[in-house]
Amino acid sequence: METTFAPVDDAGLEIRDFDPFGLEFRNNPVAYQQELIKDSPIFVKMEGVPSAIISSYTQNIAVLRNFKGFSSLKPKGLPGMERIDFFNGLPVMNYSDAPDHTRRRKVVNPAFTPKRTEMLNENAQILVDRLLELLARKGEFDAFEEFSKPLSIDTLMCRFLGITAPEHQQIFFDFVKSLPLLDKLRPGDPKPPEYLDAWARGVVFCKEQQALAKEGKCSNLIGVIAESAEDGAIDDNEMMAMMIVLLIGGVSTVAGAAAAGLLYVAKNPEMAERIRQDPSLAAAEVEEAMRMDPPVSLVMRFATDDIQVGEKIIPKGMPVYVMISVACKDPAVFPDPYRFDIDRPNVKDHLAFGQGMHTCIGNAITRNIVPLVVRSVVKRFPNLRLADRPDAVEWDASTPRARHLKHLWLRV
Ligand code: HEM
Repeated sequence: METTFAPVDDAGLEIRDFDPFGLEFRNNPVAYQQELIKDSPIFVKMEGVPSAIISSYTQNIAVLRNFKGFSSLKPKGLPGMERIDFFNGLPVMNYSDAPDHTRRRKVVNPAFTPKRTEMLNENAQILVDRLLELLARKGEFDAFEEFSKPLSIDTLMCRFLGITAPEHQQIFFDFVKSLPLLDKLRPGDPKPPEYLDAWARGVVFCKEQQALAKEGKCSNLIGVIAESAEDGAIDDNEMMAMMIVLLIGGVSTVAGAAAAGLLYVAKNPEMAERIRQDPSLAAAEVEEAMRMDPPVSLVMRFATDDIQVGEKIIPKGMPVYVMISVACKDPAVFPDPYRFDIDRPNVKDHLAFGQGMHTCIGNAITRNIVPLVVRSVVKRFPNLRLADRPDAVEWDASTPRARHLKHLWLRV
């Protein structure tokens, strides 16, 4: 199903000057969060298009649970979307409604069996131990570049997707590398050739792998997905989109969440000691790190009718930016929201994995792997702390919907 974008009439709407994709906000979200929550919802213009920004926790939940009133289907031709069109215009599960969403999610379900999750944990533990052994000898290291990123790539790319040959991995790396180029696009701009070339190479790969799958010779996730498709075949472009959803849904988010988990233990030796004494606390530490620094900043929906949210009516057809990272700082739900507190009674109630029908399908994988990382690091390094250098903590906000650490220098 496809809808075409038509801007709503903004007469009578109070339009505010705020850009959720703007670098000012992306680089310093804390400066804006409390006002956004207090005034939510607000109306803004994104590329000239009247849009709603939803920031309070209860309103985030109301919108994300109301999947009939707020569609995930991106209308064709909406200005600004070219900057986040990571899937070459294809209707992936994130951007579809039931029943298409249900079908797409079902097709990848066999990738998330307990047996596969267990296999990921075992492999992650082996790699974590090996990497920590090497890093211990360095004394000081970048925990994102040298630890959580290679771990996440190995877990998601090699073990989960099953893409092990370096030349095949390169196809996906090249594509992911091209994504920040989209952020420079203006409405109507053609897609960058690097992006289109990388996509085309991915589609060729998916085609080859689907052919192998038919002969029972495909050992990666493409084989698993092809097998669970009802009619036995998935269009090669759609397969590429699924692989990219699973890859970019996971790699930088898991790497970012692991680095954030390590940031807070490095900053707080007493908490690290508590986790050393009781490793089960690593789970709450990771939840709280995800609340503080959710790797995904916002998700989008489109109003299918005139719908009241808070004290305002969101007009039918309006794009809606659901600011999950802002809602995680709502003091009505998380008192003293900028205090890192693993003892919060509702520590798991953050919205970093979204909410409702589209809740992150990889949340169980993340909730296994990332606490494993934190437990292993605090156990191995009793003197863990931030390195004494000005660039010890650096954030990556190079795409508008995501924000996570890009460097985290630790001393052990
Ligand atoms: C820290 C780690 C992660 C974070 C913060 C995260 C965040 C999110 C969020 C916020 C959504 C909801 C999107 C929406 O409502 O529109 C989502 C959905 C999704 N995530 Fe994750 N994710 C993470 C890990 C993973 C992993 C490891 C995978 C794959 C192995 C994955 C794959 C997906 C997919 C396929 C969806 C779409 C689900 C649907 O539409 O039904 N994510 N994720």
